[in-house]
Amino acid sequence: ISRRTFLQGSAALGGAFAFGAGMAARAGAAPDPQVLTAQLTQAQIASDGVTPKVMTYGLGDATTNGMPPVLRMRMGEPYAARLINKLDEPTTVHWHGLRIPNAMDGVPEMTQPYVYPGDPFDYIFTPPDAGTFWYHPHCNTLTQMGSGLTGVIVVENPDDPVFDAEIVLNLRDWRLGKGGVFIDPFKPRDAARGGTYGTVRTANWQQEPSYDAPAGGLVRVRIAATDVTRIYTVGLEGAEAMVVALDANPVDKPFPLDRYDVGPGQRIDLVVRMPDNEGATVKLGNLRGSHPWTIANFRATGQSLKRDIRDVAALPANPIAEADLSVATRVPIDLTATAEHKATPSICGSLGYTFWAINKVPWPGDTPDPIAPIEEMKLGKSYVLQIANRTPHAHPIHLHGMSFRILNSNKRTFLPPPTDTILLLPDEQAEIALVADNLGDWVFHCHIIEHQKTGMTGYFKVV
Ligand code: C2O
Ligand code: CU
Repeated sequence: ISRRTFLQGSAALGGAFAFGAGMAARAGAAPDPQVLTAQLTQAQIASDGVTPKVMTYGLGDATTNGMPPVLRMRMGEPYAARLINKLDEPTTVHWHGLRIPNAMDGVPEMTQPYVYPGDPFDYIFTPPDAGTFWYHPHCNTLTQMGSGLTGVIVVENPDDPVFDAEIVLNLRDWRLGKGGVFIDPFKPRDAARGGTYGTVRTANWQQEPSYDAPAGGLVRVRIAATDVTRIYTVGLEGAEAMVVALDANPVDKPFPLDRYDVGPGQRIDLVVRMPDNEGATVKLGNLRGSHPWTIANFRATGQSLKRDIRDVAALPANPIAEADLSVATRVPIDLTATAEHKATPSICGSLGYTFWAINKVPWPGDTPDPIAPIEEMKLGKSYVLQIANRTPHAHPIHLHGMSFRILNSNKRTFLPPPTDTILLLPDEQAEIALVADNLGDWVFHCHIIEHQKTGMTGYFKVV
């Protein structure tokens, strides 16, 4: 069988994969890989032109209207994907939030080699947790993610309650100028502050899309903030909704959505109770700042299903270990701005500056220069990271490979369930706890990609 026939065969199987994977897992065999092609395309994003040189993922070669597909996996069952790089630069895939083996984590130089143009790379792992996650490259990230390479992952738990419908939203911006062409991905003066914003705001690559949902029904809305810069404050108009999960992890007790901050890399799962009247529209908005705007609309269709929002119960929790605080090792972590200096060039792109540092060390995270880990952790031991944001900016700080619990903070009263990303507020000091239960080198970085790429990156080594 030639490589070509093999690829075509796998691509054709793409749609049926969920079943195939399940059966293979029960039989104890490795599943057939889903072929995930990183590729160049063009897409209608702005209203005044088709954007060329968009980067996307396809299943085989086929994209979902240009957009990276929503990847569906099942908790506890093996998943395999063969990345084929059809870009003209190296790339990798990082599975954001999935606690999987280090060699599958997608960080070039640290956990795997670069995947050069034309080359494949096989990922295989078993997601231990259910929920809403996402995937993106970890090489030249400002350009690659900014150009389109951000997709949503849904890990299903067979024990999840069934809802009347599900809507998956991938929220992100695009830096496009006249005619829809990409403009400079960042401005250095903004990189040294809150980050550079896009010019066109989308959900699922569309400006203010509308989705039909059953009237009077309970709809699970999975929202992933995959933008390189924007922090959203989501709120709903025209319906009630319960927050059921944050960053994939179920909240102990679902609570009504008022407004909630979702930083780059974070996710929020809502259950929306659609209005009873056919045609009634619910607006999901971004309430941040002084000019709120609509992210997406949900339109009630059909006869009311007359569901009761009080029936929304907690989702089954994910199996995340509780740290033992009585013996935990404390690790101070200072996030600071740093004197501006030139960064070393990297195969994975360099923005040319360092503006930020973790414990005084600025590192962009994907260069081969050997920096020391922030801390060497012992497998199975508990740690409390005492994080101090000594800057006047918010930083969504993400840890690969392990989830942590926020213990306390000088800036918040509500403590979310365990997470992989904490949106640190300006001048916030927070303690987070984790069990170092995954071997390897795990990067820890700000998910405002300009901050990550200009120094706000470090890593932990679990031995
Ligand atoms: Cu979402 Cu280091 O990544
Ligand atoms: Cu940051």
